[in-house]
Amino acid sequence: MSADYQVHGDVAVITLNNPPVNGLGMATRRGIVAGLEKAQADDKVRAIVITGAGGAFSGGADITEFGTDKALAEPNLHSVISAVEQSPKPVVAAIHSVCMGGGLELALACHYRVAAPGCNVALPEVKLGLLPGAGGTQRLPRVLGVEAALNMIVSGEPVKSEFIASVPGQKLFDKLVDSPEGLAEGALSFARGVADVRPLPLVRDLPCKHPNAEAYFQFARNMVRGMAKSFPAPLKCVDAVEAAVKNRKFDDGLKAERELFLQLMWTPESRALRHLFFAERAASKIPDVPADTRKREIKKVAVIGAGTMGGGIAMNFLNAGIPVVMLEMKQEALDRGVGVMRKNYEAQVAKKKLKQDKYEQRMGLLSTTLSYDDLKDADLVIEAVFEDMGVKEQVFTKLDEVMKPGAILASNTSTLDVNKIASFTKRPQDVVGLHFFSPANVMKLLEVVRGDATAKDVLATVMAVAKKIKKVAVVSGVCDGFIGNRMIEQYGRQAGFLLDEGCTPQQVDKAIEKFGFAMGPFRMGDLAGNDIGWAIRKRRAVEKPGMKYSKTADLLCEMGRFGQKVGKGWYDYVPGKRDAIPNAEVEKMVADHRQSLGVTPRKISDEEIVQRLVYALVNEAAHILEEGIANKASDIDVVYIFGYGFPVHRGGPLNYANEVGLFNVQQAMKRFAQNPRDDAEFWQPAPLLQRLVTEGKQF
Ligand code: NAI
Repeated sequence: MSADYQVHGDVAVITLNNPPVNGLGMATRRGIVAGLEKAQADDKVRAIVITGAGGAFSGGADITEFGTDKALAEPNLHSVISAVEQSPKPVVAAIHSVCMGGGLELALACHYRVAAPGCNVALPEVKLGLLPGAGGTQRLPRVLGVEAALNMIVSGEPVKSEFIASVPGQKLFDKLVDSPEGLAEGALSFARGVADVRPLPLVRDLPCKHPNAEAYFQFARNMVRGMAKSFPAPLKCVDAVEAAVKNRKFDDGLKAERELFLQLMWTPESRALRHLFFAERAASKIPDVPADTRKREIKKVAVIGAGTMGGGIAMNFLNAGIPVVMLEMKQEALDRGVGVMRKNYEAQVAKKKLKQDKYEQRMGLLSTTLSYDDLKDADLVIEAVFEDMGVKEQVFTKLDEVMKPGAILASNTSTLDVNKIASFTKRPQDVVGLHFFSPANVMKLLEVVRGDATAKDVLATVMAVAKKIKKVAVVSGVCDGFIGNRMIEQYGRQAGFLLDEGCTPQQVDKAIEKFGFAMGPFRMGDLAGNDIGWAIRKRRAVEKPGMKYSKTADLLCEMGRFGQKVGKGWYDYVPGKRDAIPNAEVEKMVADHRQSLGVTPRKISDEEIVQRLVYALVNEAAHILEEGIANKASDIDVVYIFGYGFPVHRGGPLNYANEVGLFNVQQAMKRFAQNPRDDAEFWQPAPLLQRLVTEGKQF
């Protein structure tokens, strides 16, 4: 049983023991109930303390049981909570470190709560598209007041215990001990002090009032509606807290909470968030690399190239307290690169997101050099020089000469063959792709490109390093564009065909932005630089001469409209602003091109735009999965959510395809294949997709 039971004189102590965060899994729940029974049966025991072992009181539900029978098996959390409330002997929660979700709901059912400072207290269910379903929305307003409780429930953000304890009139904590070390003793003596107090106080018996409830909840709804965007949960949180105020009987409020909880459980938005929650955790697991693989130690990092990417990459490590040495060919390039880094940090300082001393501390970890000799002691080197195989060859040949044995040699290449790059060294097992996204100090995604020879401990090490620098890492096999850019190429091709058939750039962008993308394909092109795609298409024209493209993007580049960096692309831009202003010249270019193709423009619905763009991602993803470039479908969703602005509430392209139904997706592809202006060959549903449809399965 994952809860320990001990008696200290006249107080029984039940200690949740389910590492890492004492999730309330079945065994733990059983352990609590068994402990309560023992304590009731023991005449010597006058009071009971519930606490958590290790680094948490309790983090809430046990995520490893999500979706299994165990999650709801009796005693479920509701039953445990009743058992606590109905205990004839007082129950004191001794709270420390982490007290979240179901853990906080359990604590709220106890007769008293003693807390240590530094504890993170939260009801984070809203982050999974849910609301606290075990009384949290009914009990928290009774101890913190309606407004403070609603803020916590709607945001899901943690609040520190010492802050809560300092709020006048709060009833969440009966006592705050001086330090975490003093909690055990403090809780025991508190329990002894209240052992004989009757009747036992219960949070459910406290009043739940707001002096101006009607107006307040209306205000709250307006606020929350604006913030919640596509998510239903935050508004339901408001409903649930309102039910706490409106219902005279506590149990009626609980019932309302339960109903709202179940409604949310079935929303696609909550399914998407729960999918992503697991997908993100699963991404760090590589099927053939055991979790206990020994990792190499990374104490110092070298970055080659101080351009757009090199500077951002370096900042990630400095932020994590890891020293970086940066190498360039010329001092000017170093000075420019360091200047950009400083500017980025200074902007953070100006916005009060970073303290001045922290900024200096971070820059203090950076050194620069023009000599490879200074890289010798680095444990990991990341190359971010020009995207040119010849230049990569020079750099990796040199790195092979100078780097110490066992150092990891990484390339940030976005399109080049990592196996080829590895072949420039005598240690291909130490070579790996680390594909950061721009701006590298901001974007969460990191594609880890696994070469044919990349060693397992190298993979395990870079996955751990990714975590340390707060990136979400996904493993990709070697192919052109890896997972993300290989898919985006198909998406971009569809966007071009849509122009040829009758759309304007803003019509395409608006439709997909309404679907929830952060930015449509044309605004994205302007941001990234249209010349990048141009270069890729030129290369493609040699490699795959038959590949069909809309010519509009090339014509745009021929007009010098490279995007935001030159103030004009698919749209016009005013200096210092990012607003995309439609441009008549571009629209004329698109219309003229259409005419030259002999196409009569047709009106294309937003639905068709969205389907063609998103299903293009889905079909390419199915190929990527089948080829083993991605290890699992959820990895592809993670790539798109964290790297490409795919709408979070839709859970990534493959989760979305599952929601739509793969049969429907396949039917649409077959329809698109009939369109003479499109690419019939591309729209043949990928074999994996066909198979899943036939077998009635999902990605
Ligand atoms: P950049 O042109 O801004 O920077 C490259 C830097 O490398 C320049 O400062 C240059 O002086 C330096 N450099 C060139 N040859 C060198 C050598 N032999 N030794 C030392 N330094 C050298 O290029 P950017 O955009 O930073 O790209 C770098 C790499 O990152 C490329 O492989 C690119 O494909 C990849 N990448 C770029 C992304 C982007 O959005 N810009 C996104 C993801 C990857």
